[in-house]
Amino acid sequence: MQVHLKVFRFNPEIDRKPRYDRFDVQAEPTERVLDLLEMVKNYNDGTLAFRRSCAHGVCGSDAMRINGRNALACKVLLKDLNTDQVTVEPLLGMRVIKDLIVDMEPFFAHYRSVMPYLVNDEPLPEDGKERLQSPQEQERFEDTTKCILCAACTTSCPSFWASENYVGPAAIVNAHRFIYDSRDRAGAKRLAVLNQRMGVWACRTAFNCSEACPRDIQITRAIAEVKEALNR
Ligand code: SF4
Ligand code: F3S
Ligand code: FES
Repeated sequence: MQVHLKVFRFNPEIDRKPRYDRFDVQAEPTERVLDLLEMVKNYNDGTLAFRRSCAHGVCGSDAMRINGRNALACKVLLKDLNTDQVTVEPLLGMRVIKDLIVDMEPFFAHYRSVMPYLVNDEPLPEDGKERLQSPQEQERFEDTTKCILCAACTTSCPSFWASENYVGPAAIVNAHRFIYDSRDRAGAKRLAVLNQRMGVWACRTAFNCSEACPRDIQITRAIAEVKEALNR
């Protein structure tokens, strides 16, 4: 099929304002949007900038807006777009470094603020080397372990568009993963971080985050469970 690709371009070092470049690309319907970008970079314009690593939906580095919706370019097949017109733009609400590459540092600062790691200074059990957990206890946070930190959720959230100070759904998902882990002892500290106007209470239950998540994490539900933990 012939695909008409429109790509957001902006190099703040030389451009006064962004523009869109258009490329006509020959591709198979089973190829992915990432394949289109690779073709353009290899054969049309080597200066096109975008992030990618695994190319298989695991690393989270190629989240972008594809025909207006946040997605991983390596997971979107051309045939699933139901059109030969494909527009690719950077994630909203983040500073553009170049073309489709955005500055992820504020996103990771929010992520770090919730202590996204297991905290337990108690001595290990005498009879073993591990802190045991039942399958039921593990199930409690199984869903939120799936996050790959792609930022598709946070950058689709109207509360985040209104204020980049909002900690955002991705940080809350990663807080949930440890707050509900029976082995962890820092839940109260994480809840204190989230119990602020720009913490979990800035979520207006818009559901955009859950719809955008390429890992199908039930984000809005996780946020509700963190709010519930704060109301206990
Ligand atoms: Fe990406 Fe989903 Fe994690 Fe958000 S929760 S960063 S959309 S994987
Ligand atoms: Fe935003 Fe998701 Fe809440 S889109 S408002 S974080 S439910
Ligand atoms: Fe790793 Fe797409 S390149 S998720």
